[in-house]
Amino acid sequence: MDIRELMEVMAARRSVRVYRRGQITDEQLRLMFEAARLAPSGANSQPWEFIVTRDRAKMRKVRAIYSAEWNQRKLEDPVNYKGLKKDYVGDVSALVLVCGDARTRRVYLTTRQPSDREKLFQANVANAVEHMMLAAASMGFGTVWVSVRKEVEPELRALFEVPRPLRLLWVMPVGRPRAWPKPKPRRKLDDFVHWETYDRSKLRPESKITSWPKS
Ligand SMILES: Cc1cc2nc3c(=O)[nH]c(=O)nc-3n(C[C@H](O)[C@H](O)[C@H](O)COP(=O)(O)O)c2cc1C
Repeated sequence: MDIRELMEVMAARRSVRVYRRGQITDEQLRLMFEAARLAPSGANSQPWEFIVTRDRAKMRKVRAIYSAEWNQRKLEDPVNYKGLKKDYVGDVSALVLVCGDARTRRVYLTTRQPSDREKLFQANVANAVEHMMLAAASMGFGTVWVSVRKEVEPELRALFEVPRPLRLLWVMPVGRPRAWPKPKPRRKLDDFVHWETYDRSKLRPESKITSWPKS
């Protein structure tokens, strides 16, 4: 295997928020889920569950749910609320609802603290999402990680009939980008890699955390 090919895919992946019309085939979706299936997970618990739709009417309902949330938040705090609109979720090739079976937290036998179990659980599902995003990128599809906050969760749950033992964690649109966004800035290797012990001279002050360019 050539590492450069893998790095090329990693470098090509972007969070895409403007899509153009286009189809995704069963086979392309299957390859993405196959990539998810190969993700590592604590105690090999594989807690992920994915609900996928290509139904535009359903996508438009998802858009309406996110739009209502955005309007409400903006109304509550017109000056400080900086949330991005998520209108794109209404018109993509596929929407994947990323769920996880939280009952698998019980299988981490060596972990006692509930917060550690939660950390493992979410990390496991996140690994699968990243695998899927890379698989999608390798086929020329854009994706983005869309948070599911408490405000939208009940309606999304009802729309997709997500049963109670499952957690609805994120939504992942998949589609052809209108244009591939420019790469977002990344920290330099030397700034976050520490050899042997943590180099305190690299510990960022608060100001550097908050002023870090997000875009
Ligand atoms: C855990 C996680 C949550 C994210 N949540 C959102 C989100 O709710 N909405 C959004 O537009 N992007 C979201 N993103 C995407 C990030 O903004 C994006 O990955 C980052 O700005 C780097 O850009 P890139 O993915 O194009 O390299 C999320 C990413 C991660 C890993």
